Amino acid sequence: MKITFYGQNSLAIEVSGTHIIIDPFISGNPLSKDRVNINDLKADYILLTHAHQDHILDAEAIASNTGATIVSNYEIATHYQEKGFNVHPMNHGGSWDFDFGRVKYVNAIHTSSFPDGSYGGQPGGFVIEGERKNIYIAGDTALCMDMKLIPMQTKLDLAILPIGDNFTMGIDDAILASDFVACDKILGVHYDTFGYIEIDHEEAKKKFYDANKDLMLLDIGESIEL
Ligand code: NI
Ligand code: MN
Repeated sequence: MKITFYGQNSLAIEVSGTHIIIDPFISGNPLSKDRVNINDLKADYILLTHAHQDHILDAEAIASNTGATIVSNYEIATHYQEKGFNVHPMNHGGSWDFDFGRVKYVNAIHTSSFPDGSYGGQPGGFVIEGERKNIYIAGDTALCMDMKLIPMQTKLDLAILPIGDNFTMGIDDAILASDFVACDKILGVHYDTFGYIEIDHEEAKKKFYDANKDLMLLDIGESIEL
């Protein structure tokens, strides 16, 4: 499993030859827009955690370019289906066996309106079980006790957690979240994009290190292999 970071919560995941894009917000991200061309991205699936602009901005363009299937909650999937895109609707607690692996849409505590204010269902995260490696993409969320349910069913190899604070968990809560999901290998996301969520990288890494955890912060376009 190869995971590439495109800023905010935008990721590309390559698993079993399948290309998955998570929460594409690239053309409007001052950190990413000059470094990543959305027209170059491959996608078989686009997974959207919730309807906020900093998670869906480039979904339509990438889906138009690639014919990718948009996977999200029922309301978001229906929104894109009405525009003619291929979709797979899910809802909280539900899993589906895709060709690349199993995906579960799990709880998040946040909000989920579309940019025009229309209803985007309830926000979520994804647990992806694929190619012998399992990952958790928390999406935008507060620390919540529901995270403790995840390791009861899935042994995670990586937890992708928001750490920017203000709109989501900050660093201290993300450290607790990594305890809750029983995974000490963390990829930090949702930081530095706007003033409200700027973080001190060295301080963040030290706090995780002091808790015997490994926090990875990738450059835009940088990848890791699991
Ligand atoms: Ni959000
Ligand atoms: Mn967000």
